[in-house]
Amino acid sequence: MSLCHAQKNRLTRTGAVDFPSGLFYLGADEDRSSVRGEAVKRAIQAGLVVVFLVLAVLALFVGRPGRDAGNRVDLAPRSSAAAFRQDATLRNVTRKDIVYTIMPGPGRRGPLTRTLAVGAVDRLSTDLPVEISFDNGKRTGTTLVHPGKPYSFRYDEDDIIKIYPGSHGRDDAADLAPFVPTPRPVVERMLEIAAVGPEDVVYDVGCGDGRMVITAAKTFRARGVGIDIDAALIEECRAGAKREGVEKLVRFLLMDATKARLTGATVLALYLLPESLETLEPAFERDLRPGVRIVSHDYMIPGWDGRLVRSEVVTDESGREHKIHLYRMPVTK
Ligand SMILES: C[S@@+](CC[C@H](N)C(=O)[O-])C[C@H]1O[C@@H](n2cnc3c(N)ncnc32)[C@H](O)[C@@H]1O
Repeated sequence: MSLCHAQKNRLTRTGAVDFPSGLFYLGADEDRSSVRGEAVKRAIQAGLVVVFLVLAVLALFVGRPGRDAGNRVDLAPRSSAAAFRQDATLRNVTRKDIVYTIMPGPGRRGPLTRTLAVGAVDRLSTDLPVEISFDNGKRTGTTLVHPGKPYSFRYDEDDIIKIYPGSHGRDDAADLAPFVPTPRPVVERMLEIAAVGPEDVVYDVGCGDGRMVITAAKTFRARGVGIDIDAALIEECRAGAKREGVEKLVRFLLMDATKARLTGATVLALYLLPESLETLEPAFERDLRPGVRIVSHDYMIPGWDGRLVRSEVVTDESGREHKIHLYRMPVTK
């Protein structure tokens, strides 16, 4: 039984409060002349209990931090218990507003059309998977989104908008990329072409499970700082650093990387979406010192062609090809 239920059971059918002994007990040997005062006290206590119950119920259903912002769409059938509802989040990480349709489902009649602004998050409160349909400019596609999971509208390699699983689902921070780890051979090559050594401080913005800074520390004795917004990943980073015996060389920060200062970096490792590189470029410009090497997995930094030192292709264990781009901050800005 929940706390809330237990509290409710203390109300009698007539609505009077059935007080337990102890906290609310007023004493049996009180003077008859104080009966009126006692009645007033009981009324006040009853009022307090009711206020407490109302606040508890509000806290349970609407008071969860960070979940009220954004656009919530309640799709759960009326009959189902609220306790089973979880949000599927949909984020727009493209540069266009997206119009999509929530298709009819159990307990829901008719399609529901929504416009998701650039950078915005919709929260679909739902017990069951929901079918979403949208026109990506080439054709209309449909996708099932599941309760409790984050999704994002992104561009694919041909610049077509698609919906992908993954996003941190928060509406108070930019979504720079879903967690997709860089394969080990690519990590090693990125660190090699950036010529990482013991005098370096390697930053990874959106560090995922921390493999880049942990490898830099373990293989090249470099110090490192990893930044990620996902608390579970940061835990994994710290555990990984300990396991590999490099916890003294590396630090992991749980934060929105768009708010981070990168002034301590001598090498910056990146595996982020092109639009995120564009978002972060002013911070790179502001914080990175002359001569800092920037090594980016797959995507190029827009407007930085003049700083490109080299690009190369690395093949991973599964045969997939990955691009690596190395830049250097100019000596004079
Ligand atoms: C493609 S993964 C790259 C992981 C790692 N750098 C690697 O190469 O293996 C991108 C990471 O960025 C993180 N991320 C997304 N938005 C972020 C934000 N606003 N601040 C910090 N990290 C973010 C995600 O949680 C995810 O772990």
